[in-house]
Amino acid sequence: MDSLNRHEDYGQESLDEAQLSNDPIEQFQAWLVEAEAEGIYEPNAFVLSTVTSDNTPSSRTVLLKGVSDQGFSFFTNFGSRKGQAIKNNPNVSAVFGWYSMYRQVLIEGLITDVSDEESTEYFHSRPHESQVAAWSSKQSQPINTRADLDKQFDEALERFSDSEVPRPDYWGGYRIVPTRIEFWKGRSNRMHDRIAFERESIDSDWQIQRLQP
Ligand SMILES: Cc1cc2nc3c(=O)[nH]c(=O)nc-3n(C[C@H](O)[C@H](O)[C@H](O)COP(=O)(O)O)c2cc1C
Repeated sequence: MDSLNRHEDYGQESLDEAQLSNDPIEQFQAWLVEAEAEGIYEPNAFVLSTVTSDNTPSSRTVLLKGVSDQGFSFFTNFGSRKGQAIKNNPNVSAVFGWYSMYRQVLIEGLITDVSDEESTEYFHSRPHESQVAAWSSKQSQPINTRADLDKQFDEALERFSDSEVPRPDYWGGYRIVPTRIEFWKGRSNRMHDRIAFERESIDSDWQIQRLQP
């Protein structure tokens, strides 16, 4: 486990206020394009944290499928563990870690549902087998064996062998409407750059602050 004793230098490239867009969504989009150009594997993957009704946090990776003025959208099973948490508490946070670029973006915000139309359109853009899988898995529920799971998938494949797969009503999109977005750029000597955008509500202007590393 050599990595535990390594001391990487995070480089000289800086992040300063003059280079940044005034709009953190635009800035995020620019960094995502740069992460794609860098060839980062799944650059749209992020760690989503939710909080249950008894204040227990939990985290998992999901894929970003849309980013606009409206916020950051992803798709999942509404009955899953994360879906249950979101139902009770719409406050979430997200981490994009583009480590080979010495960059991370931290997002905090409130969840809203994406429209049924948008969920259905995205559902049908997925490969047939992925659509079938949405019918074959009660996400986050226990199952006895892998064979039982494969059986559920095979039965759903058979059921939809010659028909369009409808979107299950328990599957669709959530959108994170951000109230805080922080851009982090690693620098030498652990003297990193951190610039945070915050707004009181979605109707307020963004305030920008530099933070100590
Ligand atoms: C790279 C990667 C991408 C993933 N993308 C998604 C996704 O977009 N939606 C999703 O529901 N689960 C996705 N998962 C699986 C989740 O991490 C998680 O296992 C699942 O959503 C169940 O989480 P929950 O029990 O906390 O609800 C992804 C996992 C990885 C590693």
